[in-house]
Amino acid sequence: MRFAEKEIVLKDGRTCVLKPNSPEYAEQMIKYLKETSGETEFLLRNPDEVKFTLEEEQNLLAGFLDNPGIIMMAAVVDGKVAGNMSIAGIGPQRRLAHRCSLAIALYKEFWGLGIGTSMIGYGSELAAKAGWKQMDLEVLAGNDQAYKLYKKCGFIETGVRHNALRYDDGTCRDEILMYKEL
Ligand SMILES: CC(C)(COP(=O)(O)OP(=O)(O)OC[C@H]1O[C@@H](n2cnc3c(N)ncnc32)[C@H](O)[C@@H]1OP(=O)(O)O)[C@@H](O)C(=O)NCCC(=O)NCCS
Repeated sequence: MRFAEKEIVLKDGRTCVLKPNSPEYAEQMIKYLKETSGETEFLLRNPDEVKFTLEEEQNLLAGFLDNPGIIMMAAVVDGKVAGNMSIAGIGPQRRLAHRCSLAIALYKEFWGLGIGTSMIGYGSELAAKAGWKQMDLEVLAGNDQAYKLYKKCGFIETGVRHNALRYDDGTCRDEILMYKEL
């Protein structure tokens, strides 16, 4: 989906631009996906599972830009992709058309600067305008920073998915389900 860029001022005084992610960021996005998955155990992928070629990533980002059912928002600071948030419809059926799902991750060096709060605020506005009535998300148990962000942004805890993730060492983690009315 295409939408207007928005400038925000971070807690450290720098400016960050929230804008539609696009093929121009494909190379940065591959690096971002690999590096952010290695910076925290709270994301779904292992770094070695990021295997997109530049061309595949460019095509994916071009497709998202032209798809009215997906918001792919990049946060860009001094030309660098600091993070990305996706908001996408749950499924094509009419009975699911009211729901979308949110996912967000930033490089560690950009945590705690207010980017997450601004991205979810702007993303919620765009999602409501696009016609979705409810936003869902999952957060891994123990991810206190993300849980606090979601509570601050109005999400309500509604349940737990047992052992949602299983790590290579055999340990598992539950996932907390949350939603917000738009
Ligand atoms: C979760 C994440 C997106 C939060 O974004 P952020 O830009 O760091 O969040 P903000 O700076 O807007 O802070 C939002 C709230 O989070 C909480 N928070 C921020 N930093 C925190 C920290 N170091 N420890 C605990 N809580 C913290 C605070 O409640 C804060 O609200 P406040 O600013 O009013 O105090 C970011 O930390 C991240 O990318 N983490 C790794 C990937 C991840 O876990 N993604 C979510 C998967 S469900």
